[in-house]
Amino acid sequence: MSQNSHYYLPPENRPRITLDKDFNKIFKNEDPLAYHSSIRNYEPTPLINLSKLAKSLNIKDLYLKDESARFRQNTFKILGASFAIHKYLESNPGRHTFCTATDGNHGRSVAWAARRHRQKAVIFVPKNTAKSRIKNIKKLRAKVIIVNGDYDRAVMRARAAERLYGYVLIQDTSWEGYAEIPSIISAGYKTMLLEMEELLHSKSSPGIDFVFLQSGVGTWASSVVAYYRNKYPRSMPKFILVEPKESDSMLASSRNQTLTRTGGTQETVMAGLNCGTASLQAWKIINESVDLFLAIPDDYAIKAMQNLYYPFKSDTQIFAGESGAAGLAGLLALCNDESLEKVRERIGLNEKSRVLVFNTEGVTDPESFEELISREIEV
Ligand SMILES: Cc1ncc(COP(=O)(O)O)c(C=O)c1O
Repeated sequence: MSQNSHYYLPPENRPRITLDKDFNKIFKNEDPLAYHSSIRNYEPTPLINLSKLAKSLNIKDLYLKDESARFRQNTFKILGASFAIHKYLESNPGRHTFCTATDGNHGRSVAWAARRHRQKAVIFVPKNTAKSRIKNIKKLRAKVIIVNGDYDRAVMRARAAERLYGYVLIQDTSWEGYAEIPSIISAGYKTMLLEMEELLHSKSSPGIDFVFLQSGVGTWASSVVAYYRNKYPRSMPKFILVEPKESDSMLASSRNQTLTRTGGTQETVMAGLNCGTASLQAWKIINESVDLFLAIPDDYAIKAMQNLYYPFKSDTQIFAGESGAAGLAGLLALCNDESLEKVRERIGLNEKSRVLVFNTEGVTDPESFEELISREIEV
């Protein structure tokens, strides 16, 4: 596999459109932090200053919001699914079966939230889903259906199950005619941003210059972008969207200016980001907001996992899964990949830059984790 990254720089004079009204009404008005902090075992996740790693990359500051232990489920995805199920039950009390399609983390989150409310859950997974991820969903008493195909196919099966059996679809991606639940999921993710207020974000400034955002269907990245666009319209940081090179639907869509399925092989260790087609609603937000699209080879994700697991000098040790480390992986690629030197200059990443990344998952596939943190890699 070639070690070079792909990139797409949107035109500098790109028109900025305002955020979709229906989306933003939900996004701005909901207070997910009030809900999440009412749940037993709630704790804000840590914001970690990786000063030694920052120095080695020749940037001023590197902050990492560590979601690896969120509600003891190892992923931020809990925030979106739990909020959507809570809101649904508020207006539709009673007994339901919730369903969704997943590469692992979102399904686990739907199963967790359904169980908390004593509801049923049916989770559709692509056929190559790691056994440990399936086991984690089953442990939460959800039914798992393995679909003979990829993530997009699993989504089609979940949609069909909603129609055929009356299940309630809690899908974290959107398409024409399906945008409300993904908007509520997006609003749920806002908790992680609200937790940084007064730690990093002040009233007038976000306190950072760049945010690196890993993207699967893009709902999470669009939520982060929407937060900063609403709160700091005049001092927004720059956004770098990071995808696996072999699963780069956002990059392809923005280059073509229409939602486009990835042309990659969809073979990547970054399982949580391995979605053939991005979310329509998320893409519209991303398309008008992101400053650089980066599609990286797997080795950068592995390198990022290793840099966090074997920390630099006094930096904190962090357990990050393949997709969890992907935002940092994008930063490593931008700092180290010689073919990106001009891009780095153009977006202004330098020794004065303050950067924020998110570790969006802990060790969700222990077998793969053990192998990857000791693998010899070239980047
Ligand atoms: C660990 C992890 N990080 C990031 C993402 C990306 O989120 P989204 O699919 O909303 O782009 C996912 C998606 O499942 C994930 O599992």
